[in-house]
Amino acid sequence: MAHAPTSARGGVITGWGIAVPDKVVTNDDLATRMDTNDAWIVERTGIRERHIGGTTSGLAIEAGRAALERAGRRPDEIDAVVLATTTPDQIVPGTSASVQNGLGIAGGAFDVNAACSGFVYGLTVAHGLLATGAERVLLVGAETLSKITDWDDRSIAVLVGDGAGAVVIEAVDGPGQLLSWQLGADGSLRHLLECDHGGYLSMAGKEVFRKAVRVVVESSEAALAEVGLSAADVDVFVPHQANLRIISAACERLGIPEERAVVVIDRYGNTSSASIPLALVDALDAGRISPGDHVLLSGFGGGMTWASAVLRWGG
Ligand code: COA
Repeated sequence: MAHAPTSARGGVITGWGIAVPDKVVTNDDLATRMDTNDAWIVERTGIRERHIGGTTSGLAIEAGRAALERAGRRPDEIDAVVLATTTPDQIVPGTSASVQNGLGIAGGAFDVNAACSGFVYGLTVAHGLLATGAERVLLVGAETLSKITDWDDRSIAVLVGDGAGAVVIEAVDGPGQLLSWQLGADGSLRHLLECDHGGYLSMAGKEVFRKAVRVVVESSEAALAEVGLSAADVDVFVPHQANLRIISAACERLGIPEERAVVVIDRYGNTSSASIPLALVDALDAGRISPGDHVLLSGFGGGMTWASAVLRWGG
């Protein structure tokens, strides 16, 4: 089921930024410590390198600061921090509290954990805050997946990376950028991708792959149909960056030309909640998104969860 906002107040993204650790780990670097190779990783995933290191709060603060600067906003003008993460620094308190403190933000702070769908979940939550009176929300997707990765397990280690992306969303009278959204979850599939306290990520790769393509297509189509749009109307597609073959398969089934999809997985690997904002910011900084463009965001991940949103840029 998809939804279109009904509030008289919408939101507009006015600033954006990213942060990634300095340390770059190439496929060849990984091949020195496990039985893998660059050709396999590139062919099966599209990943060439990833950034590893830092803390989730540290990366989130750096990305958040860049987004605030770009928006021309002071921290005391922000009503709430929404941090999408599946790798919080601690179980308690929420890592968003460290982001609030690190940036000196005046308002509230909370974490959203919807695994790799987290940023799009957070985007809808942020719009709910704006619709109910907040003026400005800092939305961050930040992860240090490297901390829950077994670096001797080649089935996972070659896939993950660390990073953060952030946006400032400001309230406007009228509809704003968010045209529609669709959120979904199926907890009966939690075993496909999970990590226990103190443990490491484990994944049923093939099942996740198949389910991911299906939910991205269904969720995207539902969000587009909600506002009378189709794949042909999508100017820029910002999918979760888990595997280039998943992105290609989703594009093909949706009927979106692949050149309209933003791909950053080659440089960052899978950064879970950070992957969609890393890709969105990449597209914005490259001048790929113009006022009036329809931008489709779509993610999927552990839960399983999935989430799509359609934006009309500008405002
Ligand atoms: N390096 C080299 N060889 C590897 C390897 C690695 N890192 N990992 C697995 N292999 C081997 C396997 O052992 C297997 O060998 P075999 O044929 O001799 O048995 C072969 O490569 C194929 O493995 P398989 O698991 O079938 O590969 P795949 O094409 O399914 O690709 C994934 C594996 C994980 C890349 C893919 O399933 C995937 O991306 N799934 C979705 C993951 C995802 O989206 N996760 C995030 C959700 S948010």
